[in-house]
Amino acid sequence: MTVHLSKAPRGSIPLHATDRASFAAHAAALEPAAQRWLHSVGFTGAPDTHAVLPGTDGSIAAVWVGVHGAAHPWSLAACPKTLPAGSYHLGELGLALDAAAAALSWELGSYGFDLYKPARREPAQLHLPSSAHTQRALIVAAAIASTRDLVNTPAEHLGPAQLADAVKLVAKQHGATFKQTVGDKLLKGFPAIHAVGRAAGADREARLIELNWGNPKHPKISLVGKGVCFDSGGLDIKGADGMRLMKKDMGGAANALGLAQMIMALKLPVRLQLLIPAVENAIAGNAYRPGDVFKTRKGIHIEIGNTDAEGRVILCDALAYAAEGEPVLLIDMATLTGAARVALGAQLPALFCRSTDLARDLVDRSMDLHDPMWHMPLWRGYHGGIESDIADIVNTGKSALAGAINAAIFLEDFVPAEQDWLHIDLFAWNNESRPGRPVGGEAQTLRTLLAYLEARYVAM
Ligand code: BES
Ligand code: ZN
Ligand code: ZN
Repeated sequence: MTVHLSKAPRGSIPLHATDRASFAAHAAALEPAAQRWLHSVGFTGAPDTHAVLPGTDGSIAAVWVGVHGAAHPWSLAACPKTLPAGSYHLGELGLALDAAAAALSWELGSYGFDLYKPARREPAQLHLPSSAHTQRALIVAAAIASTRDLVNTPAEHLGPAQLADAVKLVAKQHGATFKQTVGDKLLKGFPAIHAVGRAAGADREARLIELNWGNPKHPKISLVGKGVCFDSGGLDIKGADGMRLMKKDMGGAANALGLAQMIMALKLPVRLQLLIPAVENAIAGNAYRPGDVFKTRKGIHIEIGNTDAEGRVILCDALAYAAEGEPVLLIDMATLTGAARVALGAQLPALFCRSTDLARDLVDRSMDLHDPMWHMPLWRGYHGGIESDIADIVNTGKSALAGAINAAIFLEDFVPAEQDWLHIDLFAWNNESRPGRPVGGEAQTLRTLLAYLEARYVAM
């Protein structure tokens, strides 16, 4: 933690925030020498820039930082790794920053994945008053950091068993129950998960991981995350470029676990079920094959058109199981299709939802919170394209078009019509580095979903 909800120590440096629009007014209130200094170093209040104001004794008297806005979730994200090391607190001048946004952006700006090599420098530290808002922000930041860590961890060190260990640890921290169905035990109940995961090595057996938490009297929320710890494509093997990042194919699971952590740490009045079908999509003599047909948990027969469309295969059993528990809301998150990325790029997860009103509500919230997602349709007109000649449905579309929709409507067949359901096809990765969002694993839509759950289920 680089944000401390405690009194600033002696010698802590005041941090004054401003933005381009108000910088002139803020500067006008300063002593002439300070005004000239900020001008001399070219500071304009541009976001993610800062200027250090020297004291007469050679110490740092204050730092001015430019921000996008007073309550912007990335307001101070550039600070921890660019400001001189030391302790800071929010100063009196300039914009009155929202303390929760300051806490969140500072924590995320300090994030680095340092499992294999140490961070290049010690991040600067921020002291903030403790409040329910700043505490919530730190809980959110911690969950985002653990989501990123899981995605960043290579498949060698994060197979299905290690992913289960990560869930088990979280369950222990929050007094949740943990269970898993492993290997051949999946044949009874979860045959599709077994089929995808059966070619992985003995120490990397497929499993369905389950966490349950909360008061049974509260409304039940079920989260399902795609946990493909490595996606080689299976017998329909990917090319080198397509495989390079596939350690992140458990990004849906990592995000679902991150959201679960937030819900439990904030003690939302819900009953939570987290389900993670965890597999490695590997190649061996016993691998599942193109042309195979499997009877799924729900009784729907699926034909395998392509072993690289494995996500929808493992998710269909998990979704069918989740729906049996009749949650008030079922959410699945998955790095499901390259097609969603072609359509929307890395930054915009695709949201599929039967209710247009609910989808619009979520998209609006996501834009407000700078945690975006974009609505795409569950277009039934394409269902004929995923129907099979010898089984009910096939895991690839007859047409190469609308790949993200084909995957979503495949999943839809496993979710009862009356079930409230969100399907989020996400990338879980930053290709480019931005302040607070380094290249690597990323949490997406979690702040939006948390805000939605709070608005819907927490009595105000
Ligand atoms: N994990 C991939 C999807 C993916 C690829 C997500 C790259 C993000 C970045 C998924 O399992 C997959 O390979 N899907 C195929 C499906 C196709 C064979 C029908 C795809 O999208 O190409
Ligand atoms: Zn695949
Ligand atoms: Zn995949």
